[in-house]
Amino acid sequence: MADKVARLIIEENRELELPILQGSAGYPVIDIRQLGAQAKMFTYDPGFMSTASCESNITFIDGEKGILLHRGYPIEQLATKKDFMDTAYLLLEGELPNKQERKGFLNRICYHSMVHEGIAQFYNGFQRDAHPMAIMVGVVGALAAFYHDSLDISDPEHRRIAGDRLIAKMPTIAAMCYKHRIGQPFMYPKNDKGYTENFLYMMFGVPCEEYQVSPALIQAMDRILILHADHEQNASTSTVRLAGSSGANPYACISAGISSLWGPAHGGANEAVLQMLNNIGDVKQIPKYIEKAKDRDDPFRLMGFGHRVYKNFDPRAKVMRQTCHEVLEELGVKNSPLFEMAMELERIALEDDYFIEKKLYPNVDFYSGIILQAMGIPTNMFTVIFALSRTVGWVAQWSEMISAPDQRIGRPRQLYKGATQRDVK
Ligand code: CMC
Repeated sequence: MADKVARLIIEENRELELPILQGSAGYPVIDIRQLGAQAKMFTYDPGFMSTASCESNITFIDGEKGILLHRGYPIEQLATKKDFMDTAYLLLEGELPNKQERKGFLNRICYHSMVHEGIAQFYNGFQRDAHPMAIMVGVVGALAAFYHDSLDISDPEHRRIAGDRLIAKMPTIAAMCYKHRIGQPFMYPKNDKGYTENFLYMMFGVPCEEYQVSPALIQAMDRILILHADHEQNASTSTVRLAGSSGANPYACISAGISSLWGPAHGGANEAVLQMLNNIGDVKQIPKYIEKAKDRDDPFRLMGFGHRVYKNFDPRAKVMRQTCHEVLEELGVKNSPLFEMAMELERIALEDDYFIEKKLYPNVDFYSGIILQAMGIPTNMFTVIFALSRTVGWVAQWSEMISAPDQRIGRPRQLYKGATQRDVK
């Protein structure tokens, strides 16, 4: 029995005691699992504004203080002291790897980086101008067709191999989307390169000459991957968990996560930021767009601003902002009109009463799009890179869910407002 209980008074003479559960950090949660059976009532919470959908040990966010922890480690420390593979290991295994564990993990991932040659054939079926996220949804879901040997989700070893395959093949599949679009040959992964370097090599290398990726760009991309790797029970992660709760295979679940991520209110925001900056076009136009964002009758929103959970500066955005300055300095594009516009927009929005009152701060995607563009990544690949990184979080969250002893299918109820029973005449 829980130490604390919440008392729910339903009618004058009807009272129900609901246990209050306390996690290791964060708000306590009222356990309503017995409510339906005992009170014949459901709770109503569209958008999950007040609902904890699961128990998890992976990531913690304090939105009021602007804190993000992975397995207890602050994101700022991971982003500056560790690399993406360390962060991936941490999210998946629960601890940072020692030297030997890291080596073993890198080998594990390297070993799965190629895709079946049959997969390369899929790409020919897509138009050159297809959105790469549309290709990702299809290709990642179709991976299940190639790995019948490891689809038994009740077997921990099968789950591990499927997770490794997804993480390892994502950069290859993502780079192939880009190559297909520009009509260049696909580049095979090179296993002597690190994860992030390999991705950039497959994106920008060509078979007819040697290609060395700049260490500064590898570091910037690696940081982008760390900062997007996991974010607790967001829309795409919840989608992965819900899809997985039915026992669907992990490739199908991650493909579902990619679909959810694509939306402009979620992972599609980094692409939308660039489109917005291009539409604004000139620093002088910014006040007009700020007014549009504040107008309740105008659907326009400042993309890259606001967050469901953070009511303070997104801690990822702080690191990303710093990285943005470093990368633009390194690439010598700090004076680009786009960057100037972004900085002016940030300045005005942070001083404006509307944004201050509603606690709308720039989020991680405000800066990541600017960095990616400076690195020569086309806009429609931004969300693909987010998906590549978030695959680590999705796999960790999916594995955690499947291994939970009380795992059951996710099945929300509804507040029905349609026609009551009637007869067909
Ligand atoms: N520009 C102008 N007004 C905004 C914005 C914005 N970007 N975001 C929220 N508001 C206003 C909104 O109009 C509402 O005003 P009112 O109370 O007068 O109706 C109030 O702030 C609360 O907004 P909400 O839509 O109820 O908040 P939410 O928690 O449902 O939405 C959000 C969060 C991220 C979808 C939203 O802030 C948004 O659409 N931002 C722009 C898209 C974006 O940058 N998304 C990336 C999120 S970070 C990366 C990720 O997690 O995927």
